[in-house]
Amino acid sequence: VALLFSSKGDDPALWEGLLRRHVADLDFRVWPDNVGDAADIEFALVWRPKLGALREFPNLKAIFSLGAGVDHIFRDPDLPPGVPIVRLIDAALTRGMSEYVLHWALHFHRNFHRYARQQREGIWKQLPLTPISETSVGVMGLGELGGDAAAALAGLGFRVAGWSRGPKKLEGVECFHGHHALEPFLGLSQILVCLLPLTPETEGILHAGTLARLPRGGYLINPARGALVAEEDLLAALDSGHIAGAVLDVFRAEPLAPGHPFWSRPGVTVTPHVASITDPRSAAREIAANMERIEKGEPPVGVADPETGY
Ligand code: NAP
Ligand code: GLV
Repeated sequence: VALLFSSKGDDPALWEGLLRRHVADLDFRVWPDNVGDAADIEFALVWRPKLGALREFPNLKAIFSLGAGVDHIFRDPDLPPGVPIVRLIDAALTRGMSEYVLHWALHFHRNFHRYARQQREGIWKQLPLTPISETSVGVMGLGELGGDAAAALAGLGFRVAGWSRGPKKLEGVECFHGHHALEPFLGLSQILVCLLPLTPETEGILHAGTLARLPRGGYLINPARGALVAEEDLLAALDSGHIAGAVLDVFRAEPLAPGHPFWSRPGVTVTPHVASITDPRSAAREIAANMERIEKGEPPVGVADPETGY
């Protein structure tokens, strides 16, 4: 079975070795130098494929994403019609994201950002501690990652609200859905965690108007996609003190440009798109399982909807 691998940042030899453990008859091809006969290719495993490139393969059965997000595939206006686009759903990836979210939510809740500033200024001062049940965290997006993060936050004792497109029920989480519920949800989010996919509907969703709905002095944790945030509006909200701190893992342009205001703006923490990194060992297993499902005529797990873009 011929699979085409296409990614600038991932090691094809590593992926080939890991996929071979699960797919005995794997014919591993690498874009662009080792594609061979385009008609052979049945599967593509990609990160940010070249625009129009996937259209060249007439017998594709599925396009697998090397990550959870599929915006890097849907950005191509010339995708082969009817070929399923499959998100990566992997317990290790989910777990990694929840670790990132828990770390930063606790960081703000326990005032560690304030103690860091006090240390720089040589100030020894104990700050009052709010009980965790009185610190509210709002999670935008309650899918694979947001759902797990919300449950983990609730498990620690935070007051948790969540927002999704359709209705959801999650134990310990006050669930909101739909456009009309965005304002009341934001009003509850002292710490806002964004785990939405980037789609035509969500692009720029965190702008001056929505940020203004957050309680004053709140925090933003964005490990989803940079383009969900209107950067200038976030900078203005930080300048005015409406937002007291932001942790940003993803950016409109990556790597974040040298000299970009986020690098040095007080209150902003930058991490280099590492909130949760695909572990090729577990991911290869999930992708191989989906190839097997398709070969057996079953639907793969994690098919994205081209209508909504996630
Ligand atoms: P997912 O399972 O598809 O979940 C998406 C969630 O967002 C769902 O709850 C969905 O609502 C909600 N949603 C989508 N559009 C919406 C809208 N217009 N209004 C309200 N809610 C909306 O996605 P996931 O696997 O959790 O991944 C989320 C994102 O995390 C990925 O797309 C990727 O961009 C990002 N990510 C980042 C990293 C990193 O290292 N920084 C790593 C992995 C993933 P419904 O439940 O109603 O459908
Ligand atoms: C990473 O950003 C992913 O989508 O998995």
